[in-house]
This record gives sequence, C-alpha cells and structure tokens, in this order.
Amino acid sequence: MRHGELAVLLSALVTASQDFVGKQLGEALKALRPRGYEETDREAFLVSQVSLARQRRQLLESPDTPRAAPSFLCPAPGAGVPEGGVYETEIEKWHFQRHQMWAEDQDLCHRSFGLWTRGGSLSCPLRYAVIGNFVGLAPGDLVLDIGSGCGHMGAWFHDWFGARTIGLDFQPAAVAFAQKYVVPVAPTQFCWMDVASQLGDWLPNRSVKLATAISVLQYLRSDAERWEAGPEPWPSSGVRNVSRTPCQKLSRTRKTQCRVAWEMFRATALGGYTWVAHNSVYQGKWDPKLTWGKRYWNCCFHEELKRQEIRISEVSELDIFMSGLTWDPTYSLILRRLA
Ligand SMILES: *[C@@H]1O[C@H](CO)[C@@H](O)[C@H](O)[C@H]1NC(C)=O
Ligand SMILES: *[C@@H]1O[C@H](CO)[C@@H](O)[C@H](O)[C@H]1NC(C)=O
Repeated sequence: MRHGELAVLLSALVTASQDFVGKQLGEALKALRPRGYEETDREAFLVSQVSLARQRRQLLESPDTPRAAPSFLCPAPGAGVPEGGVYETEIEKWHFQRHQMWAEDQDLCHRSFGLWTRGGSLSCPLRYAVIGNFVGLAPGDLVLDIGSGCGHMGAWFHDWFGARTIGLDFQPAAVAFAQKYVVPVAPTQFCWMDVASQLGDWLPNRSVKLATAISVLQYLRSDAERWEAGPEPWPSSGVRNVSRTPCQKLSRTRKTQCRVAWEMFRATALGGYTWVAHNSVYQGKWDPKLTWGKRYWNCCFHEELKRQEIRISEVSELDIFMSGLTWDPTYSLILRRLA
C-alpha cells in the first residue's frame, strides 16, 4: 500500500468514528482495491494469518480437544482410479497423467507445496490459511480435503489450527507421501481413490466442519456429457451436440463438479462450510457457469435451497487470496450449512 492511500484510509477511519456506518471507509477501500497484489504482499499476509491462527489455537486448545486421527471407512485403495491405462475419456487421461507427472517425475511433494503447476507458490498455503481463519477452524475440528495431493494441507491445518484432516486423492505417489510424512506428525488420514466416482455412503452425513476442494473440481466434467466450453464437449471427441441435464437433476449426474460439491456439502455439519476454490481458471473453459449455464450451482443445490439448508456465495478470489492482476479472474464457491 502506498503512503497516500494509507493517509486516505486513516482519515476515513477517523471520520468513520463519527459515522460508523463507514461510508467513507468503504469508498477508501474501494479506491485501494482493484489493483492486484505482489508476492511480497502475500508473504507478509501469510505470516500474519498463520501467526493469528497459531495464537488462537493455543488459546482454544484444552485437555478435551479431540486428537485422534480420523478413521473413516474409505473404499478399497485405488477405488475408481483408472487401471492399466484404461481411461473413460481422453481428457480424463490427460488430467490423470499431468498430475502423475507432477507427483512422480517432478516429485513436487518433496520439492514444493504439492501437485500444482510448478509446485505452486505461497498462494497455496495462503489460500488454506485464509479459508481456515474464515471458517473459524478450531482445535479438534474435522476437515475433508478433496484432492489432497501430497497432504500438505493436513499438516498445515494441524499446525496452525489444531484441526484433523481426511484427505482423498487419485495419485498413488502423492497419497503414499502423505501417509509416510504427514500421518506421523498430524492427526490425518489419507485415502487413495477417485473423488469423482467414489464419494458415497462411506462418508457420513454432516460429519465435518469444513470440506475443501482447492483447484480440484474444475478438472472434472460439468455435466454427464460436457467437459469444456466450445463446440466439442470433450476435446477431440468429434461430437458436437450433447444433451444438457436439466437443472433439477444435476446433483444426480455421475462424476460431475456438481455431484462432488453436493457430496461435500452432504458431509458438512451444521454451521460448517464447503469451499470449492479456483473456479473459472484457464479463461473459464472448465467453469460450469460457462459450459452448462449461469445457474449451475444454484441448480446443483436447488433441493437444499428449497429446504433453506444452504447459503451459497460466489466470491471473487482477487482480494481474498490476493491474486495478481494478470491471473485468471477466478472465484470461490462457498457453501454454508444453515440447517
Ligand atoms: C444422509 O441423509 C439422507 C437424508 O436423511 C439419507 O437418506 C442418507 O441415507 C444419509 N446418508 C448417509 C451416508 O448417512
Ligand atoms: C441437437 O440435439 C437436439 C435435441 O436432441 C435436436 O433437437 C437438434 O436438432 C440437434 N441439433 C443438431 C445440429 O444436431
């Protein structure tokens, strides 16, 4: 933040003490906002977020805090993961092999923050720190991490918040890493499975405080027969005209972004959150709001909306995760269980 801007902000704060609705502060913040952030901003912010979280953990922890690792009855190891190089579609193959390259050839579990392009940057821990603080993660809370990769988040969430994590991922090398290096130091459980097809009854209703999928669901299809924006629903499929599942039936579609988000929310306890981040990356070509329609997420949860069990919000990630201005304008889907 530049000095001039700080002065504006501070003077607005003084005025705001008289008019606490803070109209001027609001104006000042708006003026400061749409500028993007630098890596040094993110460094400072991450240190602050983590310090706050650790301090809070210390104050909240008690002898009664649950400390046992989660012990869900996951499906058999490797359930649903393509075997012997047999994939349902070319794009499924592409995503699987890309993550396999990150896990095995580039060994990003040891060398970086996990299975992200180039191993990711400080943005990875920063996203998790913001989410944990936002939902008020407390010692002993259970977290479901969809697409847990190497398990870094399970270690961070324990260290920062005292939370316990179950992580699910389709890359065997990454899950083996998490089991070898994270399980001994944090109350965690990691299961090797395909999250797109294997989230079922083994995952109890309303059992976790927070369910996360951080840069994961966009790799799944948005509808039964639709993967990407553009004339061909599946790249190189040669197919041009596929049917669109009607709104009311989206949550019953197989292996879709909606279905996985729906299962995550099903597992979210009263007052808890489901957080699906990094939607609309890659110029939005896998964003279901583009490939299926604007009402995708509302349609996905139309029953829960009708029963007033859910609040849905779609939030720009620019400010909350301090994105750079040249990055894709991504959004987070945040779901809160009200009943
Ligand atoms: C979750 O709740 C629904 C509705 O009450 C019920 O039909 C379903 O069997 C439950 N699933 C599990 C895994 O407990
Ligand atoms: C696409 O499918 C719809 C519904 O099945 C059909 O009415 C329409 O004629 C098809 N269009 C083309 C170009 O094949």
